[in-house]
Amino acid sequence: MSKQILILPGDGIGPEIMAEAVKVLRLANDKFRLGFELTEDVIGGAAIDRHGVPLADETLARAQAADAVLLGAVGGPKWDKIERDIRPERGLLKIRSALGLFANLRPATLYPQLASASTLKPEVVSGLDILIVRELTGGIYFGAPRGQRQLDNGERQAFDTLPYSEGEIRRIARVGFDMARVRNRKLCSVDKANVLASSQLWREVVEEVARDYPEVELSHMYVDNAAMQLVRAPKQFDVIVTDNMFGDILSDQASMLTGSIGMLPSASLDANNKGMYEPCHGSAPDIAGQGVANPLATILSVAMMLRYSFEQAAAAGAIEQAVSQVLDQGLRTGDIAAPGCTRVGTQGMGDAVVAALSAL
Ligand code: IPM
Ligand code: MG
Repeated sequence: MSKQILILPGDGIGPEIMAEAVKVLRLANDKFRLGFELTEDVIGGAAIDRHGVPLADETLARAQAADAVLLGAVGGPKWDKIERDIRPERGLLKIRSALGLFANLRPATLYPQLASASTLKPEVVSGLDILIVRELTGGIYFGAPRGQRQLDNGERQAFDTLPYSEGEIRRIARVGFDMARVRNRKLCSVDKANVLASSQLWREVVEEVARDYPEVELSHMYVDNAAMQLVRAPKQFDVIVTDNMFGDILSDQASMLTGSIGMLPSASLDANNKGMYEPCHGSAPDIAGQGVANPLATILSVAMMLRYSFEQAAAAGAIEQAVSQVLDQGLRTGDIAAPGCTRVGTQGMGDAVVAALSAL
């Protein structure tokens, strides 16, 4: 039976980078006889324009029926003034939550060819290979109550809630330990247990789960220190496991260690490894429509999809190798540009990966 993949390009640079990723996916599909069928739909601002909501029920139903989802990016200034409950970002949060994608894997790997593109010294980042495991369907992003109220003195007050249940912590901790076990067996759990009640429980539960993983070395770090250590000595980390908001922040920070957020893919998985795959970066409205965005994060997200949802390690490895070869050829989009390299646009980069992959 064929496998269904739902393509959601989204907004801003989303459609441009997705067009390149789809070329690579179609080629891999033929070359490795993967039997994928692709369908496309809208999410975010594009869905607001078409349906009045950032994620239509029929789109969600398609995502639920699909074997995997590939997403570009959502949001943009056009929809910034819309009320919070139907903003483009809500579509993303809703699909993550409705599909139960609680485990967000965000690798920060430095391609040796890009060591000089990092703002940090090459010796600090060379060989960097970190995996951030971010809890994605709980915490302050989804906690209730939230909103605004009026205080007795007439002032407006806004509030959010940061709840974590034992079960939510346990299942993401397990993903962290499972990942660490097949990597360098070091797991750093990041929290704010010196201040937050949710982090205190987080730490207790992570300690409990650790008993099942004696081969993994567990450490705990407060999030402020983790932010500092990530720029001071990032290579001390192997796998980081953390909550939804801390993971959002630290993964952007970690991405810049590798030169550009334009390089980093991500996977969001449910309990059965069904997943949604997307670049870590956003919709970059400032460069949308110019054909200059880096499509590699989305192309590498295709590789993650093949590896995690379809167990097609050979095809995934081939895509990663094609990307590496294109970097070896000196091709660079603006975000990773370096002296002596050849500047290409979104399409030029996508075409180069397609050429490298078909030659493999
Ligand atoms: C991310 C993004 C999203 C998030 C936004 C667009 C809602 O920043 O995937 O990291 O905060 O999760
Ligand atoms: Mg983010």
